[in-house]
Amino acid sequence: MNQLDNNTTSLRLNDVHKRFGTEQHPVEVLRGVSFDVSDGEALVITGPSGSGKSTLLHLIGTLDTPTSGVIEINGENPILLSEPNLARFRNKVIGFVFQAHYLLPQYSVLENVLIPTLADKKNGDSEQRARTLLEKVGLSHRIDHRPAELSGGEQQRVATARALINQPNILLCDEPTGNLDRKTADSVADLFFELHQEEHNVLIVVTHSLDLASRFKRRFELQEGKCVEA
Ligand SMILES: Nc1ncnc2c1ncn2[C@@H]1O[C@H](COP(=O)(O)OP(=O)(O)OP(=O)(O)O)[C@@H](O)[C@H]1O
Ligand SMILES: [Mg+2]
Repeated sequence: MNQLDNNTTSLRLNDVHKRFGTEQHPVEVLRGVSFDVSDGEALVITGPSGSGKSTLLHLIGTLDTPTSGVIEINGENPILLSEPNLARFRNKVIGFVFQAHYLLPQYSVLENVLIPTLADKKNGDSEQRARTLLEKVGLSHRIDHRPAELSGGEQQRVATARALINQPNILLCDEPTGNLDRKTADSVADLFFELHQEEHNVLIVVTHSLDLASRFKRRFELQEGKCVEA
């Protein structure tokens, strides 16, 4: 698969629509979202609660499919891939920090960060990278703890390290600093920008935080199903 070997990343959304509900009671969440993102760009998406921000990130992250329109990643439409190839693509190309962090309770912090690497046996230095990332998010001293022993913000920082472990082309973050105090939020945001600069990935962040949004040069707002560039 070319997209796994290609070092440059591109993302193109063309007239993306997403409808939930039934035919009698449709909920039109996205009504024609189009934008292009080039290699190395970072952008932020804001918008009121319920405007479709998480929905849009799930579509870009190949976790859901548009009702109509096309999302191309590195020149390909991933939803045309077979299920195993799509899973491989997602694991390699996409990093996701979810609004709810979904850590696995039975595993330690270090093991949670390493989970996305398990599918690829070539990843020899994953443990070192996991330790480095955990140090960057300020959790070196907690690597052997279980998620239940951590605060909400600490769990979110583990999820951030996990999303970055496979050096994804596209890092998607849904309210990554939502549960954090100001100082920790700033340091997690610093980490995103630092790694974004080092790894030249595409970074897309959804947030209600005006502080965080103001750090991005490219800003979009979801309004009535459309994505408007500010
Ligand atoms: N699986 C689903 N089935 C039906 N409706 C859904 C589904 N997922 C989302 N929706 C609806 O789509 C709309 C957008 O939801 P979404 O979670 O994308 O909003 P959001 O902008 O992320 O909001 P928040 O800021 O509160 O996280 C909401 O009205 C929601 O109820
Ligand atoms: Mg949301």
